[in-house]
Amino acid sequence: MGQVRDQRGDHIRDQSDDQSPDESTRKETSMQDSILQEGINEVIGTTHLNAAPMGIILRGGRHTLALFKRSHTAANIVGDGWFVANLIHDPVIYVESAFGDLPDDAFTTEIIDGTPMHRLAAAEAWVAFRAEVIGESSEAYSILLTPIKEEVLVRSIRPVNRGFNAIIEAAVHATRYIMNHDPELEWLIRHHLALARKCGGEREKEAAGMVERFIGEDSL
Ligand SMILES: Cc1cc2nc3c(=O)[nH]c(=O)nc-3n(C[C@H](O)[C@H](O)[C@H](O)COP(=O)(O)O)c2cc1C
Repeated sequence: MGQVRDQRGDHIRDQSDDQSPDESTRKETSMQDSILQEGINEVIGTTHLNAAPMGIILRGGRHTLALFKRSHTAANIVGDGWFVANLIHDPVIYVESAFGDLPDDAFTTEIIDGTPMHRLAAAEAWVAFRAEVIGESSEAYSILLTPIKEEVLVRSIRPVNRGFNAIIEAAVHATRYIMNHDPELEWLIRHHLALARKCGGEREKEAAGMVERFIGEDSL
């Protein structure tokens, strides 16, 4: 099994290129399970040439999404009926896709059940879902996700890093902070950015700077 440095340059991982397709890929018309875990899975969700961090809720074998209506992801899911969960460990991608747009060449196309679906080209693993609205409030949709295909491209060992986790926390709070400038969120963002800088590697430090720039440094 080959060992290579990944694009972040700071982790060694095993590549699964010597696996047979049967070992690394599962394809069924509708899969019972997915590689996601019970609880909330913070992934990069891709829809038509769009990416954004999303929390897929997996409880009792059921995958759902609580999705704010005012997002490109919501418009695309309602229009196209599909969603791809991308597993990736680059904190910069989380921040970039939360606050901005990834370039078109960040995506690659998979044809699944005859439908072209976009996933991240750099995904370490991905799960494609059929996506349907099963409920809504004035602000949000409840989306039922039915897994249809998944692929593990890279098998990696990741030591737990509080810096990476802190970037995820800071980014979640920051996506809310830009809407309401709540001082409590401001405190939480400060706290998590300090943790990211203390415990993270270069990519976490870069991502921390990006969060500050996106929310406007002078407001913190
Ligand atoms: C880690 C993380 C998880 C998120 N989870 C969700 C979610 O489950 N539902 C949602 O509507 N927004 C979620 N967001 C916020 C969206 O990513 C954010 O609003 C984004 O700008 C939407 O982008 P879009 O307009 O390209 O869809 C999350 C943000 C982060 C950083």
